[in-house]
Amino acid sequence: MAVYYVEGGNCLFGECEIQGSKNAVLPLMAAALLNEGYTVLHNCPNIKDVHYMSDILCDLGCKIWHDKNLLIIDATEISPGAIGGESVSNVRASILIAGAMLSRVGHVMIGLPGGCRIGERPTDFHFDAFEKMGVSIIHYEDGVECECDRMKGCEINLPFPSVGATENIILAATGAEGITIINGAAREPEIVDLCLLLQQFGILVEGAGTSRITIKGSKGLTGGDVAHSVISDRIVAGTYAYAAAAAKGCITCKINNLPMMESILNPLSLLGCKIEYGNDYFKVTCHEMHNGLGSIVTAPYPGFPTDMQSQLMSVLVTVPGKSVIEENIFEKRYHIAGELAKMGACIHIKNDIAVIEGVDCLHGENVRVCDLRGGAALIIAGLCAKGATVVDDAFGYIDRGYENIVGDFTRLGGCIQYE
Ligand code: UD1
Repeated sequence: MAVYYVEGGNCLFGECEIQGSKNAVLPLMAAALLNEGYTVLHNCPNIKDVHYMSDILCDLGCKIWHDKNLLIIDATEISPGAIGGESVSNVRASILIAGAMLSRVGHVMIGLPGGCRIGERPTDFHFDAFEKMGVSIIHYEDGVECECDRMKGCEINLPFPSVGATENIILAATGAEGITIINGAAREPEIVDLCLLLQQFGILVEGAGTSRITIKGSKGLTGGDVAHSVISDRIVAGTYAYAAAAAKGCITCKINNLPMMESILNPLSLLGCKIEYGNDYFKVTCHEMHNGLGSIVTAPYPGFPTDMQSQLMSVLVTVPGKSVIEENIFEKRYHIAGELAKMGACIHIKNDIAVIEGVDCLHGENVRVCDLRGGAALIIAGLCAKGATVVDDAFGYIDRGYENIVGDFTRLGGCIQYE
């Protein structure tokens, strides 16, 4: 159980180095299973989801070294077997082990993936695609078994640009016979990062970052030692930028892929914050915000990310006027509205729409974390509220994605402690 004590009212000033991306490193770790050699990941975030994924890879026979932000995975010899338990059920990206193991050994038996409870989170796109590639699939109550001697490359049309399904199909397709084409693929920067690693493994992948990705399968990688640096975490960078907007101040975030920040930082510009860009950083300055945002809709990349929606809500609750958020990706992602209301926010939810009427200020309260990004959003709310806020993260969600949120906000001048 983790509890955060936040005393609001301090402006945030200074510079912070943004950690490596959670949503990039987890698929990279699954991809390491394809490489009969060492995969060296620099800028790896030291977060709980990485520890869970390491446990899964160890269960499969990989050898792992993890020192601060360096992760080395040796998948020269693996010992395929059924995988399940807490590590699998706690991490959504554990499902990517399926595509990687199908490619490497043609068989996988895996428990159902978990992750934040933000909606249904089905896996039909993943397994429908595998079936089309010739995989036989048996669904059990608590898991799934997939088997195929040799998958066949084919054309797959995704009904929606699912990030996880795109990654899983890419991983499986690396070991399929012939060419696999994914139409309607997700375009997230984390998928581009995955494909960069696969290219280093010698796999021919084209079109990453577009909605049509082509993968040429090859049986048996020769293996070798490969090093890759994980992209920065755009959601962590966005969280800190939004905190500086809500609590006011001026912060600089050092980040290694600036274009991916556009849709996250745009709302702040519209609200009157000043955003400046350098070669490897952006700087947010906010003294006051004027008038509500009008309407903003979550959408697949390059749209506004659902993973920033809760943090945006924490900013908008004290912006004068009316703002409207439409959540289009996950149906249960307004958990924090009730907690923010306890702090004095005025939010009306109807189905996918949240209407926010800005109030003068929030007041400190005892609030509960229900998911990872919602937890970060409650810390933002605490930083700008009057008085003390206790953020109760009984399930340890925040540690799953933020390497050092307390240290980072403390360095920026926030008053926050962790127990
Ligand atoms: C990933 C991210 C998560 C982010 C989400 C959307 C990781 C580890 N997690 O999750 O942080 O919030 O993308 O940007 O990268 N869907 C189906 N069937 C499927 C798969 C998905 O209907 O088989 C639907 C989902 O219910 C959801 C939408 O597609 O409505 C997008 O989900 P998806 O992109 O797959 O999210 P994840 O990969 O789970």
